[in-house]
Amino acid sequence: MVNKHLIYEGKRIAYQTAGKGYPILLLHGFCFDSAVWDDFQLDLIEEKFKVVRLDLPGFGKSDVWPDITIDKMAEVVKAVIDELKIAHFVLVGHSMGGYVGLSFANQFPIQLDGLSLFHSHPYADDAEKKDIRHKSIEFMKRQGHVLFVKQMIPSLFNAKFSNSNAFLLEKLLFRATRYQSEGIIAAQSAMANRGDQSEVLKNIEVPVQFIIGKEDTAIPAEKSEAQVHLPTIADIQYLDKAAHMGMFEERKKTQLLIRQFASYCKKKASM
Ligand code: MLT
Repeated sequence: MVNKHLIYEGKRIAYQTAGKGYPILLLHGFCFDSAVWDDFQLDLIEEKFKVVRLDLPGFGKSDVWPDITIDKMAEVVKAVIDELKIAHFVLVGHSMGGYVGLSFANQFPIQLDGLSLFHSHPYADDAEKKDIRHKSIEFMKRQGHVLFVKQMIPSLFNAKFSNSNAFLLEKLLFRATRYQSEGIIAAQSAMANRGDQSEVLKNIEVPVQFIIGKEDTAIPAEKSEAQVHLPTIADIQYLDKAAHMGMFEERKKTQLLIRQFASYCKKKASM
């Protein structure tokens, strides 16, 4: 694995590459960083894909960007892709990473051969969700982010999985407690301010994969299902035992789904 960084608009953006072959870019979700894919990526590398991962602003080793937006996060992804001189790739976006992926598809469609929305969707927050986000921001401004992530991260897993994987949860929590509160607040605010991206899915010209966790409470299956008719080419996949963290809860199946989707997109783009 090669650890690198670039400076984009004066901010440090950390990224890694591993393996050789057709590129798959993995984008983490809220309160995680590129390390969430550490074990997951091994199978993709073995199957001859090049894996690119980055830390979105405010997470992992990337700088905090206090006024970040989802569109700006997509620009950061573009900067990494260009730095690596990648002509074509498939983007896999986990949850918030999917919001960024949709913005990327809207702003920079040329290099994208396929978009995998992994526990994600194109809809803007409703009033209730915005309110929850604003309350959490106020809470973190007063108390910091440690209690917030301690409550949030376990709620993303199905209870059976988290009960038997206590060490993994501790590890993820430990990483999240080390981010700066400002970075988490900025990302929470970026999500609250994002617009509806359904039109992006309606107009997208490349295949879109939907990976839906049947036990997901963060993005319930009904919400995920509402979007699947939007793109022209959709690969709709369910993880029966997963909540919101399929890369851990059903790792092998998710790896297979992403490999198959990336191979299909690669082939389709070359036709
Ligand atoms: C995530 O996992 O990235 C979040 O659940 C996304 C969100 O809060 O909408």
